[in-house]
Amino acid sequence: MGEVLTMLVLSFFGALSPLVSVIVNVTLLALITIPIVNWAVIRPMKKTLHDFEFAKHTIAVREDQILAVLYDLAMTADDETSGHIMRTQQYVSLLANRLKSMVPNAQTLTDENIELLVKVAPLHDLGKVNIPDHILGKEAPFSDIEKELMYSHPMIGESILATFQSEGFEMDLISTAIKVAGSHHEKWDGSGYPRNLQGEDIPIEARIMSVADVFDALISRRSYKDGWSIEEAYNEIINGSGTAFDPLVVQAFIAERKAFEAIASKD
Ligand SMILES: [Fe+2]
Ligand SMILES: [Fe+2]
Repeated sequence: MGEVLTMLVLSFFGALSPLVSVIVNVTLLALITIPIVNWAVIRPMKKTLHDFEFAKHTIAVREDQILAVLYDLAMTADDETSGHIMRTQQYVSLLANRLKSMVPNAQTLTDENIELLVKVAPLHDLGKVNIPDHILGKEAPFSDIEKELMYSHPMIGESILATFQSEGFEMDLISTAIKVAGSHHEKWDGSGYPRNLQGEDIPIEARIMSVADVFDALISRRSYKDGWSIEEAYNEIINGSGTAFDPLVVQAFIAERKAFEAIASKD
């Protein structure tokens, strides 16, 4: 009996010892490798993440500062009121979000892009900073020189905005602003300016801006004209579908009619 017990105990420890040695080996390996991995991989990774977050924050702060300066410039550049700027910004937001729901796979209308577009909408006429007030406040028809000056404001807006971009560091915010400022007078049928872009060659951001801008310009009273009724402006936009405006943006406009009216009738 005593012999059997001894054999059992010996065989138990005999089986256990390889297991114990594996555990000891794994523990030793872990004790050696964990600090190395921490020092060589995790710490640099944490630092990179921290640097990335810091850079993102710095860019966001820089963008806000740039926007504040550009908003001020846009207000002085335009003969139009701050009301026009606020309303068109809201119209743009309505149209972009409606379009996104109508065309769910539209790559260019992500939430992030819409946020950028809404931020830069007030800068669409930035280039008017170069146009004398007496021309801005004048009723068309313009002389050839006046017309040339008026028609130059999209390109001037683009040039001003481009100075905020530097090579190797392009801000999406400014790229979006350039699309809006440079192409908001292009027309779907190619008869707009400054580049006679046509259809989908016109950035979607500018196609949206165009409907918002024209609608508000029509209903607004200016020194040289009375404001149109909402009904008249509404019909004008619909009549311009496929000629002046992207038909899809006009569809979004029709779907948002009530929201447009609510904003338009606030003032
Ligand atoms: Fe304009
Ligand atoms: Fe405008």
